[in-house]
Amino acid sequence: MSVLAIDAGTTGVTALVVEHDGVISARGYEEFAQHFPKPGWVEHSPEEIWQATLQATREALDQTDMEEIRAIGITNQRETVMLWDRETLGSPRRAIVWQDRRTADLCTGLRDDGHEDRVRELTGLRLDPYFSGTKLMWLAQNEPHTWALVESGRYAIGTVDSYLIARMTRGTYHVTDVSNASRTLLLDLETGDWSDELCELFGVPRDALPELVPNWGEIAVTDPRSFLGLSVPISGLAGDQQSALFGQTCFDEGDSKCTYGTGSFVLTNTGSTIQRSDALLASAAWKSPDGDITYASEGSIFVTGAAVQWLRDGIQIVGSAKESQAVASAVADSGGVVFVPALTGLGAPHWDPQARGLIVGLTRGTTRAHIVRATLEAIAFEVRDVLDVMPQLSSLRVDGGAAANDLLCQLQADAVGVPVERPKVVETTGLGAAFFAGLGVGVWESTDDLRHTWSLDRRFEPSSDRATADAAHARWSRAVELAKGWAE
Ligand code: G3P
Repeated sequence: MSVLAIDAGTTGVTALVVEHDGVISARGYEEFAQHFPKPGWVEHSPEEIWQATLQATREALDQTDMEEIRAIGITNQRETVMLWDRETLGSPRRAIVWQDRRTADLCTGLRDDGHEDRVRELTGLRLDPYFSGTKLMWLAQNEPHTWALVESGRYAIGTVDSYLIARMTRGTYHVTDVSNASRTLLLDLETGDWSDELCELFGVPRDALPELVPNWGEIAVTDPRSFLGLSVPISGLAGDQQSALFGQTCFDEGDSKCTYGTGSFVLTNTGSTIQRSDALLASAAWKSPDGDITYASEGSIFVTGAAVQWLRDGIQIVGSAKESQAVASAVADSGGVVFVPALTGLGAPHWDPQARGLIVGLTRGTTRAHIVRATLEAIAFEVRDVLDVMPQLSSLRVDGGAAANDLLCQLQADAVGVPVERPKVVETTGLGAAFFAGLGVGVWESTDDLRHTWSLDRRFEPSSDRATADAAHARWSRAVELAKGWAE
């Protein structure tokens, strides 16, 4: 008895087959292209995401007994918006990705018109280009011919989850869930329903939006003609960060995790309370089939793993992300180099879409090892900035690809001053999607059934030298101030 989880992330799609005991028995992965049409713009081709999904799934299924697959769970990069033709399922343009900063001025305009407080009150978010709402507004203003077909009902709007489900079901379903919807600026966080007031503010026709479904239960069924011959229930669905919270079995109020992916995202389960904050976001974590919504407080950091990817693809000083640990370990410290990877602006807790990346403290003695080490330190400092505005944690549970990097985990513990706990399975985003899907069809009866699947791989204790850690962080904070407002 197993479950297939599809994790459509920012840089690639992972497919996992998860067994009843929480063990991952098969996996597939396929990367897709990143498009940067202008500075600060980031786009993905929906068709490429779909092809990568098929390829990753094929790879995982080749290693498994298809008869055993009871259900499919989907998790995805959030906020990224796309349009598709309800009949042909083709997309008229590329998706605008969550990292895209093109709507910074639109956000300023809305703020100047006095909308920020009401938007925050209704959504738990803020006016930042990160979220889907202003991306849709931009499309309406800049591509009116395309937008006319949204208004006529021919094109559907959705996040990556909705798009994949439409493709997997041959267009039969147009659905999403509260964890994804609460990142669009269009959901009323308290009621868990689309808000007419927000749809009007952002100029989005409500009919073009997907139907909201619970995070587990009867969601959809794949059409074998479109999805690799499979007719299987899609019974779990969640945005990737909420899915990772679930995968880390953070079911109780106060439980927290940090996932290292393209960006890093610290989430705390806040139970049935919406915890509002200036520096952090409030979002829906999940909604049960009974209609109960669990909320989360989130610190979203835009560029962490993407900074390592930039070392590999941009300035090409490492051959692979994995190599970064060995290169950074060649030196004892960064030699005074500080890298602020504000490559797509700064998210929590700074919230500056005009910030840009910088590297300072270079000397003639600086080597690539110092820069690579400064990159790993930057990830740890970015997470510390978020934890500094969160209620004090006694330990930090980490996951995601980069959590496998021992040096990063140690730097993280040193930066934040609390132990960092790494579970045996770090692919908790996919695991969460599998858990949702399994709950949906009864592979697991309740969340209590899932708790025992979490087990500790390693605990990283922080250095007792807090003065050195604080001095390094103070130097980082100086550099962050320099990066702010750079693109203005
Ligand atoms: O909010 C963006 C987030 O969902 C993307 O996650 O793992 O693709 O960096 P990831």
